[in-house]
Amino acid sequence: MPSNRVGQLRPTAVNSVLAEVRALQARGVTPVSLMRGEPDLPTPPHIVEAAAEALRRGRTQYPDNRGELKLREAAALKLHRDNGISYDPGTEILVTTGATMGIWAALTALLNEGDEVLVPEPVYDAYYSPILLAGAVPRGVPAILEKGRFTIDASAWRSAVTSKSRALLINTPWNPVGTVLTRAELTALAGLAAAHNLTILSDEIYETITYDGHTHISPASLGPEIRNRTILINSLSKTYAMTGWRVGYCAAPAETIGAMLLVLQQASRGPATFLQDAAAAALTGPQDCVAQMREEYARRRARALVALTGMKRAAPLAPEGGFFAMLDVRGLGLPSNDIRRRLLNDHHVTVIHGAAYGAAGEGTLRVSFATGANTLAEGLRRLRTGLEAVV
Ligand SMILES: Cc1ncc(COP(=O)(O)O)c(C=O)c1O
Repeated sequence: MPSNRVGQLRPTAVNSVLAEVRALQARGVTPVSLMRGEPDLPTPPHIVEAAAEALRRGRTQYPDNRGELKLREAAALKLHRDNGISYDPGTEILVTTGATMGIWAALTALLNEGDEVLVPEPVYDAYYSPILLAGAVPRGVPAILEKGRFTIDASAWRSAVTSKSRALLINTPWNPVGTVLTRAELTALAGLAAAHNLTILSDEIYETITYDGHTHISPASLGPEIRNRTILINSLSKTYAMTGWRVGYCAAPAETIGAMLLVLQQASRGPATFLQDAAAAALTGPQDCVAQMREEYARRRARALVALTGMKRAAPLAPEGGFFAMLDVRGLGLPSNDIRRRLLNDHHVTVIHGAAYGAAGEGTLRVSFATGANTLAEGLRRLRTGLEAVV
């Protein structure tokens, strides 16, 4: 029997849909997946070589639980270089097993029983479980779809705050909807956090993947007050096509990082030392691979938008960042989960229904272009055919 806390947990949308995909595969059908946030690009060779070289040097012992100093220094350098924020690698950086571990350690270190965490809806649904595991309550703040962009009005954030609110968990560029929060939007959130003594958890793992002149801004860069109430969470998964390596890092004031370290020591004690050496090489080495990946995602985004434009009752939204495009399917007049099922069962293409990310996502589908080439071309063809067949 699971505990009451574990009893509240649900598989993520991707995992639930994967179960349906496997059932179909067992019947001999091979659906094309436009579902996962999994880059198909290889990890750049100089990073792979750094890992191999570290292994050959025998870097196989337990890591420093805070993260190897070399990687903490590399993360501090990167945060200064790319985000304009200074952190002390000795006390203000924690290396984690992906952003997933960073999010969990931050929430566990921060939350008391009954605390509320404000999350934007549509939400990256994997945020719910660690909030619930910490005995706290997620409170979705609904976005509205305005001029092709999901956005949350400052007044909606304000009216979601209660005496139990403890933190805001945001994600920019925002998975699933593709919005990149502007300086004005972040400044408003910073003001709200200061007024109500909230901590901002800022998940920035898509920071390098932005389009059409949109640029990522970390809330911690807005000024010392907001820096000191922000836990910045990042990882190498998307930026360097390193999802399977499981390396990430967090930055926050020393007291917060100290508490998160205690939490992390109960669960993972950090990524393998040789992977940390390679991660340091990624953060401090040449960054042209990052620009090349961004250009490749931009080409795929353009391909997806062209392939999905001009339908009578469905239209793509151009994402400002990340590698997902939302499709507005409100014109089809059916629940998004029904449309998703029809696309999967009748047209053998997998996407995620917007309702999986909260009620504010109803009427949309999330389409991933993290995978390119024939998978993208064939997936988009099936998607269009399927959507045009829905009556
Ligand atoms: C918004 C967001 N945060 C965190 C993660 C997990 O990142 P990591 O691989 O670093 O654990 C993902 C993965 O898809 C994501 O989309």
